[in-house]
Amino acid sequence: MASIRFDKIGKQFGETEIIKNLEFSVNDGEFMVFVGPSGCGKSTVLRMIAGLETISSGEIWIGDRVVNNVHPKDRDIAMVFQSYALYPHMSVYDNIAFGLKIRKLPDADIRKRVKDAAELLGLVNFLDRKPKALSGGQRQRVALGRAIVRNPSVFLFDEPLSNLDAELRVQMRAEISKLQRRLNTTTVYVTHDQVEAMTMGQRIAVLSACDKNKPRATNLMQCGSPMDLYDRPDNIFVARFIGTPNMNIVPARLSDDGSTVNSLGGSMPVSAQFKQAAQAMRGREVMLGIRPEHIGAAHEIDWPQTQAIQGQVEMVELLGHEAILHFKVGGQIMVGRLHSHGHLPAPGDTVTMQMKCEAIHLFDPVTELRLR
Ligand SMILES: Nc1ncnc2c1ncn2[C@@H]1O[C@H](COP(=O)(O)OP(=O)(O)O)[C@@H](O)[C@H]1O
Ligand SMILES: [Mg+2]
Repeated sequence: MASIRFDKIGKQFGETEIIKNLEFSVNDGEFMVFVGPSGCGKSTVLRMIAGLETISSGEIWIGDRVVNNVHPKDRDIAMVFQSYALYPHMSVYDNIAFGLKIRKLPDADIRKRVKDAAELLGLVNFLDRKPKALSGGQRQRVALGRAIVRNPSVFLFDEPLSNLDAELRVQMRAEISKLQRRLNTTTVYVTHDQVEAMTMGQRIAVLSACDKNKPRATNLMQCGSPMDLYDRPDNIFVARFIGTPNMNIVPARLSDDGSTVNSLGGSMPVSAQFKQAAQAMRGREVMLGIRPEHIGAAHEIDWPQTQAIQGQVEMVELLGHEAILHFKVGGQIMVGRLHSHGHLPAPGDTVTMQMKCEAIHLFDPVTELRLR
């Protein structure tokens, strides 16, 4: 096992900056997820750890050595990709054993490792089959098996579930998490799917693409436990990225004494956690954030302190266990939640919804950082 550390890593392709000043560490045995929109540099980060991509600046540490100039095959890493890249003409056994044969391990050792992995992955009865005679989930397990038998210090996963259907994705999500806990191997898992990130990661790092028009010190937006990111997003990017449906974020103004925040035609007390910050910004414009699950109908909620907002219904999305209400308040579309078996309003209806005051987040409109 090994820890991984990025020390001020930068990466340019030609003139284009892709990774800027990236600093993070993954602890020995930890499951770390990198999440961010397509093109933000997730695969590049993984490829730099694996040694498949050069580094423009900074140092990558694996365990107690700098690996910038260590050849990929000497980094003791196994990588699983979205395309499983199985050899179609080889049996499952040979696919899993291939990397070990190349490394010229003794036959008996290879047989034992493949058998152990096949048992762990439920592939014992499929070892003689060719990949084309397997389901998508079984193929993905073969790709996992190939990584496991190597017994590496680090697993790298690059969107390994993207090719699977929704149901299988949920199942494999749980299987990979369980497997990682069991093997206790340091893991970096990349996905664009925030639900995958929330459900699998012990910690999550959120990346955004480098943007010339919005220069930031780094493209690492926040790194923390899933609930840290959900409850205390450091900035508007993370607030919008984590959680579904997305957090509502609307312009607001702090009162002259900083004790209330005025928005959406009403005024709410500033919650305890923002009191000090709101004092410092009193009388100024801020951005107010509130998650859809914190906007509900008066008779369906039980919140200590609420603020009413009135608007016109745009759309109701019925999901079965709940309904997502989109409504317009003074030109601003807000998203809230209703019980699906309750009375559901129709488009054009006027609705009064309640916001949970203590669930409100405040951000600086210029820096987009959480007020603190
Ligand atoms: N070899 C390359 N040459 C030039 N640009 C590249 C190369 N590889 C990736 N990029 C660019 O780097 C950015 C990040 O790519 P990538 O790491 O694949 O993103 P992600 O995995 O988050 O979708 C993208 O804008 C992509 O076009
Ligand atoms: Mg990618």
